[in-house]
Amino acid sequence: MIFAANWKLNKTSKEMEVFFSTFLKSNILKKALQDKKKIIFFPQALLSAGLSQIFNQFLNDNPILVKDHLSWGLQNTFYHNEGAFTGENSALTMKEMGGQFSLVGHSERRSLFKETNKEVSKKLVLLQQLGVVPILCFGESLELRQSGEYKDFILQQLKESLLSVDLSKRIILAYEPIWAIGTGKQASTEDIQEIGTLIKEKFPKLELLYGGSVKPSNVKAIVNQKEISGVLVGGASLDPQVFLELISSCYNS
Ligand code: PGA
Repeated sequence: MIFAANWKLNKTSKEMEVFFSTFLKSNILKKALQDKKKIIFFPQALLSAGLSQIFNQFLNDNPILVKDHLSWGLQNTFYHNEGAFTGENSALTMKEMGGQFSLVGHSERRSLFKETNKEVSKKLVLLQQLGVVPILCFGESLELRQSGEYKDFILQQLKESLLSVDLSKRIILAYEPIWAIGTGKQASTEDIQEIGTLIKEKFPKLELLYGGSVKPSNVKAIVNQKEISGVLVGGASLDPQVFLELISSCYNS
C-alpha cells in the first residue's frame, strides 16, 4: 500500500526538519515500514537536498528498514534533462540525488500552468527512460462530473497522456477528481469504485491511487477497495501527527 504525500508549495526547510523530527521517531512509521507499506514524500524541489540527507541518515540509523519503503520524488519534472529551459526541474538531477518518483500532470499543473496531455506524455517517456517511476494524475472537473461525460473525458485524458508510454514499465496512476482536491469533499466509495473498475478494465496491471481530501477518517474505506493501491494526500500530509494517524487508520481492520 502506498501513502504519497504531496506537500505542494508548503514548508520551509526549517518546517520540514520539525516535521521529520516527529515523523521519523514514530512507532507507527516503523510498523508501517516493517509491514512494507510505501511512504513517498513530494516536497517542493528546493527541499530535495535536505530531505535526501534526512532520509539517508534515517536509513543509516535503521538499516533493517528497506530503503525503497521510504522515498521521495518531485511534484513536477521537465521532459528534457538539460538545456535552455529556465525554471524547470531535471528528473536526471533528482535521480542523482536519490529521488525515485515524479508526479506528472497534477490538476494544479494542468489548470494553473496550462500543462497539456502532450507535454504530460513527453514527461512520462523521459521518466521511463531514466528509470524514475511516474505517478500520473488524472481526473475530471465538477462540470464534467455533472454533465455525466466524465468517463469519456478520463479515458481520453489517459489515452493522450499515455501516448508512446511503455505500459510494461512501472507507472502508477492517481485518480484525483478536481472537485475533491482541497475541498474537503472526497469522492464517495461508489465514485471511486466506478472509476477503479473502468481503469482496471483498460489497464489491469497498473497500480491505482486515489487523491482528493483523503484524511484519517475516510482513508480506510478508500484503501479497502480492491482496485485501490494507496492514496495521494495533500492537506492531511502536512502535519506529522495527522499523517501518522492517517497511516495507522488503515491498520485497524
Ligand atoms: P488534498 O490534495 O488531499 O489536499 O485534497 C490532494 C492532491 O492535490 O494531491
